[in-house]
Amino acid sequence: AAGFLWGGRFSGGPADAMFALSKSTQFDWRLALDDLDGSIAHAGALHTAGLLSDDDHAAMVEALEQLRADVQSGAETPAPTDEDVHGALERMLVERVGPELGGRLRAGRSRNDQIATLVRRYLRREIRLVALDALGVVDALRGQAEANLGVIMPGRTHMQAAQPVLLSHQLLAHAWPLVRDVERLENLDGRLALSPYGSGALAGTSLGLDPEQVASELGFFGSVPNSIDGTAARDLVAEAAYVLAQIGVDLSRLSEDVIAWVTPEFGFAALDDAWSTGSSIMPQKKNPDVAELARGKAGRLIGNLTGLLATFKALPLAYDRDLQEDKEPLFDSIDQLHVLAPAVAGMVATLRFDAQRMAEAAPRGFSLATDMADWLVRRGVPFARAHDVAGGAVRFCEAAGIGLADLDAEQLAEIAPELDEGVLEVLTIEGSVASRDGRGGTAPERVREQLSELEEAVHQA
Ligand code: ARG
Repeated sequence: AAGFLWGGRFSGGPADAMFALSKSTQFDWRLALDDLDGSIAHAGALHTAGLLSDDDHAAMVEALEQLRADVQSGAETPAPTDEDVHGALERMLVERVGPELGGRLRAGRSRNDQIATLVRRYLRREIRLVALDALGVVDALRGQAEANLGVIMPGRTHMQAAQPVLLSHQLLAHAWPLVRDVERLENLDGRLALSPYGSGALAGTSLGLDPEQVASELGFFGSVPNSIDGTAARDLVAEAAYVLAQIGVDLSRLSEDVIAWVTPEFGFAALDDAWSTGSSIMPQKKNPDVAELARGKAGRLIGNLTGLLATFKALPLAYDRDLQEDKEPLFDSIDQLHVLAPAVAGMVATLRFDAQRMAEAAPRGFSLATDMADWLVRRGVPFARAHDVAGGAVRFCEAAGIGLADLDAEQLAEIAPELDEGVLEVLTIEGSVASRDGRGGTAPERVREQLSELEEAVHQA
């Protein structure tokens, strides 16, 4: 089959449906520049090994560099008859330098080690950009946390009123997971940084080519220690898809908070017009579409990860064509996050918080009951008893239709002998928040400390 990289033993070309199934240029062309960089490095290895003369090497590199410029400018694109990015680029090279010289480049390499190298190189570049995407959201959260220091809101567990917290504390609680995601990406880069080039189809190269030379030219730290693993492993693709899905999940959990906060029932925040949309029928609507798309895309990113793992399970070593299916989900996860993260950052950065409304809501649901119990403990009451007494106070207030802070001396004494008016001092949301002053707590000075810790972490990222 003329025009295919594997044509020699075939009498004719593939059936139309075979070709349509096999073809991958529609998605792997985005690796074209990486493929050309690989070819330039590989030409160098062939030259070093004495398989390309000085003149041939110079002519080859010049042609590859011109081709690179034409691919970058969009002047060269795959033809409908090209099978994959590797075949398309070889065709273009041969058109430029002829079959004699063009036919020399493929010595000692396979599409199997090529594609494995290209994907790693692409990922190393893209995850840096994804890390910047995530840090953009961290930055928006940090900005809001700084601007709203002192604002108190209801903290929840089980979605029920739990204890008052600083809004800044809650916002930073959404920032830390993203910082960890960025650390995960950095950590992953260390594993991605070994080049499979030189693994050949699976068994390595016999032509005296130096994989380390190619690796360093392509910006890798070194080459893989095992050529079978180098061509067959896709755990790194799955790992990348996991971190991308985790970022999606983290953005989704943040978004879920925003969705609740901007309902009229909560009324804790309002969306900026530029970061929300209306309804085609209901004139009053201002919808949190960014946040909802974040939730939706998290599902999609999880699907990509799940699909990849399902594809990889039970694949025998070494390369199998199933592995071609790794690219679209991986590329999709990256593309989705590039679109999503800046929108989430914009939405967060422009939220307007209603401090008054949050402060009013903060003591509701008897969220200061723990403060009453802690006050009793400081006075020497065993916590189990303190818990009972505070619980009794809640029951009393619930029946009387009042809040804990509304109790008077008589009522306090009626609830339990251990209680007196002194407890009222801690039954304010300011007092409650200020009292949680252990490391990592919601007291304003701890949250300020946390802000500088976050800054430090982001700086190191
Ligand atoms: N398009 C293939 C992939 O993405 C490249 C490697 C093809 N190798 C092969 N032996 N057919 O995995």
